[in-house]
Amino acid sequence: MHFLITAGPTREHIDPVRFISNRSTGKMGFAMAQVAAARGHAVTLVAGPVALATPAGVTRVDVVSARDMLAAVEAHLPACEALVMCAAVADWRPAQVSAVKLKKRSMSPVLELEANPDILAAIRDRKGGRIFAGFAAETGDPRAEGRRKLVEKGLDLLVANDVSQPDAGFAVDTNRVILLTGDGREQSLPLLSKLQVAEQIVAWMEQAARRT
Ligand code: C5P
Repeated sequence: MHFLITAGPTREHIDPVRFISNRSTGKMGFAMAQVAAARGHAVTLVAGPVALATPAGVTRVDVVSARDMLAAVEAHLPACEALVMCAAVADWRPAQVSAVKLKKRSMSPVLELEANPDILAAIRDRKGGRIFAGFAAETGDPRAEGRRKLVEKGLDLLVANDVSQPDAGFAVDTNRVILLTGDGREQSLPLLSKLQVAEQIVAWMEQAARRT
């Protein structure tokens, strides 16, 4: 299969030196890419700004903002059979972006924001027979929110994790996730390395592709 995987945060610039973003480091998405390539799949990895090396055998496309990421996903989706939206896409961007560094004295203490596009919502009608997986980072029990996102975003699989745990979620090499699937099932995985979590997800997607 050809996997399209997004990873990392997006960065939404205010001016050339300031931006809003989030705590994602890209580790889970890069683990997904590494595992999918090692299992013999073609992999296109759309990466936000992260400090990680490209895994062997993976084609990497670097992006900065949510709108860049949407454009890259739209460009590469037609050639892919599986999409994994691992990226922590910033929900909001500054309404105005300055081409030059703003002077402190000329800045308003209130930052006006506008909503970024939801990438999964934007490409939903181009899904066809593709397998779509998404991630949801929640603080607290992620089941209810995860199930809502699975349905709302038209996913086959939603990987939900509680990022308030110190050994799961952002910037660590381990993760504890719950797999929620479109047929109403859920599977809680124990604490695993992100590579082991990625193995489970890629294996699930391979099986789902065989069923379709
Ligand atoms: O941020 P949220 O919890 O809604 O993310 C759930 C899923 O939706 C993730 O797979 C994420 O990559 C995706 N997403 C997206 N476009 C956004 C925000 C999130 O595709 N603007």
